[in-house]
Amino acid sequence: MSKVRWGVLSTAKIGTVKVIPGMQKGQYCEVTGIASRSLESAQAAADQLHIPKAYGSYEALLEDPEIDAVYIPLPNHLHVPWAIKAMQAGKHVLCEKPIGLNVEDARHLADIAYQHPNLKVMEAFMYRHHPQWQKAREIVREGGIGTPVTIQCFFSYYNNNPTDIRNNPDWGGGGIMDIGCYPISLSRFILEGEPEKVIASVTRDEEFKTDVVSSVMIDFGGLMSTFTCGTKIAPYQRVNIFGTEGRVEIQIPFNAPPDKPCIMWHQQGEQILEIELPVADQYTIQGDLMSQAILEDTDVPTPISDAVANMEVIEAVFRSERSGRWESVSHMVTK
Ligand SMILES: NC(=O)c1ccc[n+]([C@@H]2O[C@H](COP(=O)([O-])OP(=O)(O)OC[C@H]3O[C@@H](n4cnc5c(N)ncnc54)[C@H](OP(=O)(O)O)[C@@H]3O)[C@@H](O)[C@H]2O)c1
Repeated sequence: MSKVRWGVLSTAKIGTVKVIPGMQKGQYCEVTGIASRSLESAQAAADQLHIPKAYGSYEALLEDPEIDAVYIPLPNHLHVPWAIKAMQAGKHVLCEKPIGLNVEDARHLADIAYQHPNLKVMEAFMYRHHPQWQKAREIVREGGIGTPVTIQCFFSYYNNNPTDIRNNPDWGGGGIMDIGCYPISLSRFILEGEPEKVIASVTRDEEFKTDVVSSVMIDFGGLMSTFTCGTKIAPYQRVNIFGTEGRVEIQIPFNAPPDKPCIMWHQQGEQILEIELPVADQYTIQGDLMSQAILEDTDVPTPISDAVANMEVIEAVFRSERSGRWESVSHMVTK
């Protein structure tokens, strides 16, 4: 097998617009099938994206022995149930973020994954695989900003659509689950550790009951990462990583365009160096890295324990919303 044969569960926008076209450019990925609750929708997506097989149910795709791995871009409340069904059908799993609805959900998925050591399972935090984030981590690791002191992140968009999955609290909607999960993830990625505690100020939408504006402080033992995210704010995204002697700023930290170079800045003292990264599609890289791990039976770049650890922080944020105080982050992950 020189390429992994991928199946996609649903005709979700992120899949059809970004992830499938990205994976189709990959060296080790073949998008073989797409499933929808409606065969008509699956067939239309398959025709549009030149995918050989279409299925009228997710079960039908999972039953196909010609599918090796599935990509799951379902609403958040369906991530864990379908990831488990996929593993039980013998498929490797790339599942969209956030991995589940809460820590219990995430740990359940991880437990099932540990019972299937022959299968690879990964949360689709694609941003980590983009060269700009690899570069940012390298600069920090090599002391290019001195000692890291604080990270600041802003991530927002305006979405007032009552039928959007993001505006349904029962399906894991809201800004913290949808985009607050990124600054939590990147802080853990860059600082290469787990936070001790968090405190959050959260405003909820009167109509949707989802969190629409949240500001969060994440304490990594005196080293603070802060972010504001929101779902009814003009769209914007930016990350700054500050150290004692320098700073790294990423212009488009999460939705890096697949067809244009990305820009980041590395400040050292008074000097600011602009770094232009070559054009890269983070979804192609993500698909190829996971496929290589499958083909070569090596570890996936981001283990499932990372997804559980991220959910531990998200859950502490919601605890802090309710208590109005600092809340400890539990660290139950053992693998
Ligand atoms: N990594 C990234 O860059 C990124 C970006 C955006 C979103 N995401 C994640 O990707 C996931 C999907 O987001 P999206 O915006 O692409 O979603 P979306 O366009 O709303 O699609 C969700 C799909 O789920 C299927 N589905 C199954 N049961 C459903 C139900 N009860 N109600 C609605 N849809 C149902 C539908 O497909 P069928 O009708 O074909 O069955 C639908 O098209 C989310 O977890 C989100 O967090 C990730």
